[in-house]
Amino acid sequence: MNFVEVIARKRDGLSLSHEEIAKFVNGAAQQSLPPEQLAALLMAICWRGMDPEETRWLTEEMLHSGEVWNLAGVRPDVVDKHSTGGVGDTVSLVLAPLMAAVGTPIAMMAGRGLGHSQGTLDKLAAIPGFNTSWERDGLLRLLDECGAAIIEQSERIAPADRVLYGLRDITATVPSLPLIVGSIMSKKLALGASTLVLDVKWGSGAFRSTIEDAVELAAALRRVARDMGVACEAVITDMNQPLGPALGTACEVRAAVDVLEGGGSPALAEVTLRLAEELQVLRGGDRQSARKDLAAALASGEARAAWDRIVVAHGGDPDPERLAQPKKRVDVTARAEGWVGEVDGTALGWVAVDIGAGRRSRNDELAFGAGLLVHVRRGERVAAGQPLASLLVGERAVDEEDLVERVSGAFHIADQAPAELVPILGTVEETIADGGEGR
Ligand code: URA
Repeated sequence: MNFVEVIARKRDGLSLSHEEIAKFVNGAAQQSLPPEQLAALLMAICWRGMDPEETRWLTEEMLHSGEVWNLAGVRPDVVDKHSTGGVGDTVSLVLAPLMAAVGTPIAMMAGRGLGHSQGTLDKLAAIPGFNTSWERDGLLRLLDECGAAIIEQSERIAPADRVLYGLRDITATVPSLPLIVGSIMSKKLALGASTLVLDVKWGSGAFRSTIEDAVELAAALRRVARDMGVACEAVITDMNQPLGPALGTACEVRAAVDVLEGGGSPALAEVTLRLAEELQVLRGGDRQSARKDLAAALASGEARAAWDRIVVAHGGDPDPERLAQPKKRVDVTARAEGWVGEVDGTALGWVAVDIGAGRRSRNDELAFGAGLLVHVRRGERVAAGQPLASLLVGERAVDEEDLVERVSGAFHIADQAPAELVPILGTVEETIADGGEGR
């Protein structure tokens, strides 16, 4: 096969065969095709797209480029969750103990921070001793011990994705729908839980900023999962402002514990409960009783107790007092009275990265005490001088003045109340039926 012809076919808007896609993916995984040709095809896919069949073949080939753990084969009861990413997205830290508390084992392969968003692995690294480096046997042991496993992605899972993602990052081809679907789903399917819920974010702090784009991505991800035998639902949720009150590592662990103790952020609790409910329904549960059981697990302290068991099973210290503290807290206040309007979640996410909760370059050290607390939400009335957010300054040397300016600029204080945005739009079908108004 002449690979130049494959690139030309996609450049001209034609569909590729399964064999041509296999050649592309193997060429990436085994580095038998030059990066120039891989990059050229990535750009052609970005422009011309892929039909559902091509997208499924791409995902299948990426999945089989490495180890396939096939959890469903040994533990058909295990569920998984994936978020397309955002800021203040502390859901995984609440969802795992919640599912464990209602007897539904959950396994998640989590990532480090990506761009402006903080990663679950980085948040867990703030817990002294918490180990996320487990192979398949270790993951199965964790599920037996505590009902949940949150682990880092094995190097051997979907190696083609690592090569292709690296090239996408430097060729402006990250936003392509089929490439995103292949990248996300190859890793999910390699873990191989039988049941999967997808949290697809829309809004200024998300990957896909419009509702239409989020719906399109949710439908494409779900289609591939279902075509490959996974019981899957996707929920579209709001990322026009941080979901929870904390952006960082240790501070997000505290925000999760607050929800697990029956308080904390209502938006974070609401989104987590909805995703948990979808998982229970996918497993054959009744929606109303699933919601009742989940709410009871939060209220009774069972989910909080499950969190401690999960931390201990992963080798961590469950005492929240052992989490790193900031060295200093700097409040950022409203300069005028008014209504909180647009909140630039991406800008806040970058502030959290720069203060020490993320990395601008690969070798940056995280500062676990650092982060950002957000005190107001869109639609709230604020007085001049009222704190909008607080910088948690940690071990990293930072330009406080610059960070204060950036946080201040991220909150638009308006003369009128903004249009309401609900945290949950619903499934693909609900979102389309409601015209994006939410329930
Ligand atoms: N997350 C991934 O793993 N891959 C993408 O392409 C986008 C988000």
